Amino acid sequence: ARLLLLHGPNLNLLGVREPEIYGALTLEALNADLRARAQAAGHTLDILQSNAEHVLVERVQAARSDGTAFILINPAAFTHTSVALRDALAAVALPFIEIHLSNPHAREPFRQHSYFSDKAVGVICGFGADSYRYALDAALKRLPA
Ligand code: DQA
Repeated sequence: ARLLLLHGPNLNLLGVREPEIYGALTLEALNADLRARAQAAGHTLDILQSNAEHVLVERVQAARSDGTAFILINPAAFTHTSVALRDALAAVALPFIEIHLSNPHAREPFRQHSYFSDKAVGVICGFGADSYRYALDAALKRLPA
């Protein structure tokens, strides 16, 4: 099956940005690892990072008709702000998992609300890059046969 991984704003700086919170792995290395894991399981992982809300909204909309079976998304700061991205996910009605490197519940109060969690199949946060690996495993287990 085809899976889609979306990374929100500032995740292009992974490995450089606040490494004490987000870890030292670069986005490129993380993406390569996840792609290889999906491929080894016989699936395809499409990946997009954007700092722009509309680009993410349009990619989610495209997933409606491009054969995507499951979405993995770290909305990053849009987690706490984006009704538009939430609505796009609801519109395509594809199952998705919300991912965070850090544990937003252990951070500033403004990070404790998500526009996505109540619509997600599940939420995985606080395990650094492993949050993505656990989410991929969970998605692979839930793919239609
Ligand atoms: C994040 C948590 C968000 O609060 C923050 O804005 C991010 C990254 C995470 O992966 O821990 O950019 O989604």
